Amino acid sequence: EKVAAFQKALLNWYDQHARQLPWREDHDPYHVMVSELMLQQTQVQTVIPYYERFMNQFPTVGALAKAPEAEVLKAWEGLGYYSRARRLQQAAKQIVADYGGVWPQTSETLQTLSGIGPYTAGAIASISFGEPVPAIDGNAFRVFARLFKVDADIARPQTRQIFFDLIQPLMPKDRPGDFNQAVMDLGSSYMSANHPDPAHSPVRDFDASYRDGVVSAYPVKTKK
Ligand code: ADE
Repeated sequence: EKVAAFQKALLNWYDQHARQLPWREDHDPYHVMVSELMLQQTQVQTVIPYYERFMNQFPTVGALAKAPEAEVLKAWEGLGYYSRARRLQQAAKQIVADYGGVWPQTSETLQTLSGIGPYTAGAIASISFGEPVPAIDGNAFRVFARLFKVDADIARPQTRQIFFDLIQPLMPKDRPGDFNQAVMDLGSSYMSANHPDPAHSPVRDFDASYRDGVVSAYPVKTKK
């Protein structure tokens, strides 16, 4: 049926063409958390060397929790938005002190951590803990808005729930993290904002905006 065919097209493509990235070498939640927070403000190619240095300097959540704040901010220098680095260290302290070093494992409970909103919680829960929950960032909004010609305005806070309800039933229970990361890769290649190539996309047969010749109309976003 159609959902299974979509999953297969997306994951087969991901199996063959996933970007090899240092934070994809395992599913450690600490690795996912640090990479996702870095990627929220900075491009993948810039993040890679920062991520690798950061992991050398603070190899575990415990090491990050007990590091002097000045060292953490120094390691973040050049990435910008220092408040994110402070919140990241705060989250590490919460995991050590409040959770006794045992990570909260659901999207909902991960959101009790400093700096972790619905997107990052979804990424960690799906990639590290196998929860079939969407990680909805700009990539996911764009990909699914185009695939389904969603007319809801992504600038409105209420629209996230519409996408959540649309995406979640499409997720395979056995590979939710790969599904979310495949969407990220699709959103930065065939279904990118600036250089889309929907004609060659692995999910072009499922792409209503391509079928109807209205790719550039999606996602719908009002200026704020
Ligand atoms: N952008 C945001 N998260 C990402 C990830 N895990 N891999 C690649 N690009 C991303």
